[in-house]
Amino acid sequence: MVRIVARSISKVFKRGSVVALDNVSLVVESGSRFGVLGPSGAGKTTFMRIVAGLDVPSSGELLFDDRVVASNGRLVVPPEDRRIGMVFQTWALYPNLTAFENIAFPLTNMRLSRGEIRRRVEEVAEILDISHVLGHYPRELSGGQQQRVALARALVKNPSLLLLDEPFSNLDARMRDSARALVKDVQGRLGVTLLIVSHDPADIF
Ligand SMILES: Nc1ncnc2c1ncn2[C@@H]1O[C@H](COP(=O)(O)OP(=O)(O)OP(=O)(O)O)[C@@H](O)[C@H]1O
Ligand SMILES: [Mg+2]
Repeated sequence: MVRIVARSISKVFKRGSVVALDNVSLVVESGSRFGVLGPSGAGKTTFMRIVAGLDVPSSGELLFDDRVVASNGRLVVPPEDRRIGMVFQTWALYPNLTAFENIAFPLTNMRLSRGEIRRRVEEVAEILDISHVLGHYPRELSGGQQQRVALARALVKNPSLLLLDEPFSNLDARMRDSARALVKDVQGRLGVTLLIVSHDPADIF
């Protein structure tokens, strides 16, 4: 599992000269759960994207363990080499792929046999209780099932770091509670480092 260190990270978007992040420093210990709470527009998604390697900090440094992965506007380690699973704010399932295919998607460039892919997808589906809907398309899934498919897709590559961007915001109150408990349980079982951002204090458990 990985330890994340942010050193004085700032992000300025040229368009509209928005300062989305201003000198953010934090440490997420290996294997821990870390929550960032902030209102809409606070820069949460921007920070997640920088940690994921989808964007670079304008200044400051980001380290994974002792390795610099991004520094002062420069991407040092690209996203595909960061061993990250991410659930986006919008879940972003591929509508024309089944749940199985959505979950298997991150494995497609890994030169695994079909049997190995099936084994990995079924294993994570079992943990998240979606084995019975693997053949369904996203439109044929409930909101809670879609959320778990997105989570399964993030977990299938055995990430060192799981990034969750307001993953429960589209769920009803009851489902939100069970989804929070599920994430906590899966994180504990897999021992993965978890970074979660939300505007809802109840998500930061
Ligand atoms: N690509 C971009 N170009 C210009 N400005 C951007 C870009 N992405 C984000 N911003 C701006 O940066 C600020 C932070 O946005 P961000 O999406 O990180 O907020 P957030 O905390 O995730 O908000 P929410 O809770 O609504 O998801 C906002 O003012 C936003 O308009
Ligand atoms: Mg956001």
